Amino acid sequence: MSEQDQRALRDAFGRFATGVTVVTTREASGAPRGFTANSFSSVSLNPPLVLICIGNNAHSAPAFRAAPHFAINILTAAQQQTARLFASHSDEKFALTDWTSGAHDVPLLPGALATLVCAQHKLVEAGDHVILIGEVLQTDISDGPALGYHRGKFIEIPR
Ligand SMILES: Cc1cc2nc3c(=O)[nH]c(=O)nc-3n(C[C@H](O)[C@H](O)[C@H](O)COP(=O)(O)O)c2cc1C
Repeated sequence: MSEQDQRALRDAFGRFATGVTVVTTREASGAPRGFTANSFSSVSLNPPLVLICIGNNAHSAPAFRAAPHFAINILTAAQQQTARLFASHSDEKFALTDWTSGAHDVPLLPGALATLVCAQHKLVEAGDHVILIGEVLQTDISDGPALGYHRGKFIEIPR
């Protein structure tokens, strides 16, 4: 695909307004890992399944492939800085963020609109990404405006 076609594809994808999540897990060593993702989708209610797509170039991709559990933190409008931090390759993500350990020791971001603790259900190779399908084991929700992403910009989605 030419660079021009890639740009057009990105622009077309970017017309789809989404929420924003930070997906978290732990490496086998116990170190927390996470990245910002808007590819989140609910998949099934029974069994409860969700998915997220991870680029093979993401530094945390090997950790997510290997981890038995992970969490999806759906961000509030107040967590834009967190979204920016977790969209970087920084080693300081968890040093600069308030976080706790949830069920199965997965890192959780307090203040998120919702957190979903998941068990890895299936990995599906898909081009330059892997689709990580999770079975939801535990949820927690709160209230407030959501953080959104549209045409390359963060937006606030009123409650
Ligand atoms: C709003 C937004 C949504 C993103 N969604 C995804 C996504 O769904 N999948 C993905 O692999 N990267 C996504 N990214 C890019 C990653 O957050 C970025 O590559 C990050 O550096 C990965 O972290 P890591 O290299 O420490 O794993 C997104 C970035 C932003 C700003």
